[in-house]
Amino acid sequence: MTAFSKRFLLCAVAYVVVGMALGTHMGANQDFKLAPLHAHMNLVGWATMALFAWFYNAVPAAAEGKLAQAHFWIAQVGIILFIIGLYMVLNENMAGEPILIGGEMLTSLSMLIFGYKVWGTDTA
Ligand code: HEM
Repeated sequence: MTAFSKRFLLCAVAYVVVGMALGTHMGANQDFKLAPLHAHMNLVGWATMALFAWFYNAVPAAAEGKLAQAHFWIAQVGIILFIIGLYMVLNENMAGEPILIGGEMLTSLSMLIFGYKVWGTDTA
């Protein structure tokens, strides 16, 4: 595995460990208010980041250069802002709204960069 893929995958594991703990907490307390946060941590944080890791491992050339580094950091800052903002909004603290929107925009940008990377990959 390349070091760049491992970095993405370790972040993915960190998000799903917290996401699963949140799921367990929700179930134990029968309080599902934070279910959308749990879903996004697991699907954006875990599933999406793990797919990024898989791609960069399969196509190491795509991991070279500044755009790949930017992809990594935009994806991480995006999901962290997303988590903070969504947590606040789900707790009816509307000060979290701009944080959530910033997180959504960065998360979307990271997916556009990923699409560009896939588009630019040579086919066999
Ligand atoms: C220890 C592991 C996990 C536990 C204990 C757990 C627990 C839960 C609970 C209690 C709910 C709320 C159910 C309800 O509203 O009635 C839920 C919803 C959900 N979970 Fe998990 N979950 C786990 C792992 C995952 C993983 C790995 C994913 C995705 C990769 C995932 C995706 C979702 C989604 C999409 C929802 C629906 C959220 C919504 O309705 O807004 N969960 N989970």
